[in-house]
Amino acid sequence: MKADINKNFFATQIGSILATAGSAVGLGNIWRFPTVTGQNGGAEFILIYLFFNVFLGVTCMMTEFIVGRNGASNPLRAYIKAGNNKSWGIMGILAILCGSLILSFYSVVAGWCVYYLYLAITGGVLGSFDHIQSTFSALIGEKDIYICCAISVFFVIITHVIVVQGVQKGIERAAKYMVPMLILLLIALGVASSSLPGAWRGLEFLFKPDFSKVTMHTFYEAMSMAFFSLSLGTACLVTYASYFRKDANIGKFALQISIIDVVVAILAGITIFPAAFSVGVEPDAGPSLIFLTIPNVFTQAFSPTAGYYLSILFYFLLVLAALTSTISMHEIGTSLLSQEMKTSRTVAGTLVTIFCCIMGTLCALSFSHPNIGVMGSTLFDNLDSVTSKVFMPIGAFATCMLVGWVMSRKTVMRQLTSNNRYAWSRPTLRTFFFLVKFVCPILIGIIFVVNIFFTN
Ligand code: PHE
Repeated sequence: MKADINKNFFATQIGSILATAGSAVGLGNIWRFPTVTGQNGGAEFILIYLFFNVFLGVTCMMTEFIVGRNGASNPLRAYIKAGNNKSWGIMGILAILCGSLILSFYSVVAGWCVYYLYLAITGGVLGSFDHIQSTFSALIGEKDIYICCAISVFFVIITHVIVVQGVQKGIERAAKYMVPMLILLLIALGVASSSLPGAWRGLEFLFKPDFSKVTMHTFYEAMSMAFFSLSLGTACLVTYASYFRKDANIGKFALQISIIDVVVAILAGITIFPAAFSVGVEPDAGPSLIFLTIPNVFTQAFSPTAGYYLSILFYFLLVLAALTSTISMHEIGTSLLSQEMKTSRTVAGTLVTIFCCIMGTLCALSFSHPNIGVMGSTLFDNLDSVTSKVFMPIGAFATCMLVGWVMSRKTVMRQLTSNNRYAWSRPTLRTFFFLVKFVCPILIGIIFVVNIFFTN
């Protein structure tokens, strides 16, 4: 029970930033961002994404930090305290459910990354395109489905082991090593990829906008991407903010985390597109991009030795990125259950882990047994949709309403200024409250309505 004597706050400012950035930076940046950018035209999508990341993202992140640090407890209590009404506790219940459900399907993709890391080390990831394709089909088909289930469970258990160590010894220490390592690895891969012959076409795709291709759909995709990527609306940020120190500057933290998130996403783009263009792979290959196309890119674009080492680096990086995010998803349930059930983090964490292992296994099985799922989709897709289309928008919308309209201005200001430590100019404050009260809820409302009614 050594871990339970850990105090529940981050020991250092940099630790707080890196742990929260670790939650934001994940498969969303390295897998989803290049996929969506590839499908939405490139540079123009990135510019719109940047806009949403800064206006919607930073503002919503600050609202979650305000509720979290003001609550200084798990999301359930934090929402009740902020709203001064027990019914706000529903947000805490949604939060624990949302975090655990995301962890369940996310751990399946994270498990694939572990498997691909193993394949990369044993040389199994390089080869003809047919070989690469059959490896991936086997993994989600009947043949190797038990591997798929086992690695998802394995990933949840690794997450569990880190989380039960406590806030400082587990979460903060892991993030302090992993996030800088991840950025360094991405820079190394980005440099290697952009020095390939023909790589300039990939860079042009990423940095030369063509606004004639922008549609409403581009805006919608960019908004959702910013949402998922910054872990908004899941109470991950509320939970982590409860570990911030009293002198943490919430506005600065939100800005720094959003910058790290954007930089990692763009670095992932610089790693993937130049290499893809240099071997003639289409940028809109879709979600299979990193599991089908990237091994092919590594085989064709580099010498066998360079391809071997770079593929190991790449999948190692994905595992790291996924892990810093799954830790934050697991922590929501662990902190909530341990405080509400007055039990140790180990017992609370075990309950979360058992739930996520069962759901994760069912998600993995649903690829080869499509009857596991509802409305004609797999359970994997069901959980992905219900969390990103319903839970996340509701969480972010409710938090904006809470901070903008329900909490007293005095309480909000106390958090914004960290008890008068940091000054805010009048125009900046006005802009902040305008964004929180009107702009963000309306934008989120649009995302919600478009997602529910206009996409399948
Ligand atoms: N932001 C993470 C990513 O980009 C995903 C995530 C979503 C993490 C919700 C926590 C909560 O991969």
